[in-house]
Amino acid sequence: MVRRSVPGYQAMIEMIGLMVKIYGQDNSNYYDLGASTGTTSLALSINNNHINNRIIAVDNSPNMIKKCEANFANKLSNLETICSNIEDIYIENASIVVLNLTLQFIKPEKRQSLINT
Ligand SMILES: C[S@@+](CC[C@H](N)C(=O)[O-])C[C@H]1O[C@@H](n2cnc3c(N)ncnc32)[C@H](O)[C@@H]1O
Repeated sequence: MVRRSVPGYQAMIEMIGLMVKIYGQDNSNYYDLGASTGTTSLALSINNNHINNRIIAVDNSPNMIKKCEANFANKLSNLETICSNIEDIYIENASIVVLNLTLQFIKPEKRQSLINT
């Protein structure tokens, strides 16, 4: 649905694929915050040229997490899903943290502290 409703969505996903190639590091985690159905997680996976990475997809909607798992859990062996508010998760050993079209759902006064974590 986002693909149809957001102009330039496909270009955004392609840019994320480019960024994982440039900024991803071996032996690190890639976080997809507000993962929805997992399109960004997939881009992180298929464009990844690094080794030993976990892709951690986080969303606070149980339905979105279910769809993400149905879409990719069996296809991406290194995908982990977490159903949680992104403000409550602990980001560890990350080389990539993506908030694609998600930051606007966080209260303005809380955005900077989320970015700082
Ligand atoms: C527009 S969609 C994101 C699209 C997705 N990142 C992509 O690249 O296709 C926003 C998602 O953020 C999730 N979301 C909103 N507020 C959240 C929060 N506080 N914690 C976790 N997920 C949240 C929504 O459930 C929704 O799935």
